[in-house]
Amino acid sequence: MNKDRKLIIAGNWKMHKTAAEALDLIVGLKRELAAIKEVDLVVCPPFTALGAVSAEVLDSNLRLGAQNVSEHNGGAYTGEISALMLKEFSVRYVILGHSERRQYQGESNELVSRKALATHAAALKPIVCIGETLDERQANRTETVLETQLKGSLAGLTKDQMEETVLAYEPVWAIGTGQTATAEQAQSAHAFIRKVLVSLFDESIAKRVRIQYGGSVKPSNARELMSQSDVDGALVGGASLEVRSFTDIVKHSI
Ligand code: 13P
Repeated sequence: MNKDRKLIIAGNWKMHKTAAEALDLIVGLKRELAAIKEVDLVVCPPFTALGAVSAEVLDSNLRLGAQNVSEHNGGAYTGEISALMLKEFSVRYVILGHSERRQYQGESNELVSRKALATHAAALKPIVCIGETLDERQANRTETVLETQLKGSLAGLTKDQMEETVLAYEPVWAIGTGQTATAEQAQSAHAFIRKVLVSLFDESIAKRVRIQYGGSVKPSNARELMSQSDVDGALVGGASLEVRSFTDIVKHSI
């Protein structure tokens, strides 16, 4: 596939896998994906498995991501994890503003932007998630919602920081439902997101930022989704938990 932007495919393991299970999965992924150079590959285990997975990915073409980070550098914030703590495990990426955190932890766009700034301050790369609910889509509010999320979640980022940021378009109605957005729906949302990036930053940044699609990505739909001109990768949930399905998604995307 010939795109200016290198594809980035990440597995969001969510709250799955003990450290021992994570080790099994990463060993299998390393073996099956060792030859892949065309795609940036990222795995995002839960915090408790970062240590086990980190040791395995050090000498591989896989990179490590976390699923959240504190907006603070340190202090009396019980239960929180700072960006510097993630760096100890050679984490490179941090998923921010996932719809599950927006929904269950009440994360706002403003909080996501503060977390994005903390992530950049530690020289890590945020993967900022945005996406509309089914109600919002049915009310024809998709673009308004995406624009508000982008403006709020990316507030305060410099152009240089934006270039080192990955976006993930994850329509909430497609997450964990088996109901994938059609390639046309994904392409149209991604093109709109890029247009908003032109207005928030500039044309050349908008051209360089990678926008992943997430929501029921499977081996059977990866090729069509990844072939869309503004789709630059995938953020995979359920299908990233098995060696075979994640490997097939990657291989079908190149
Ligand atoms: P599924 O691939 O399970 O639909 O999850 C998508 C997701 O939320 C990735 O962050």
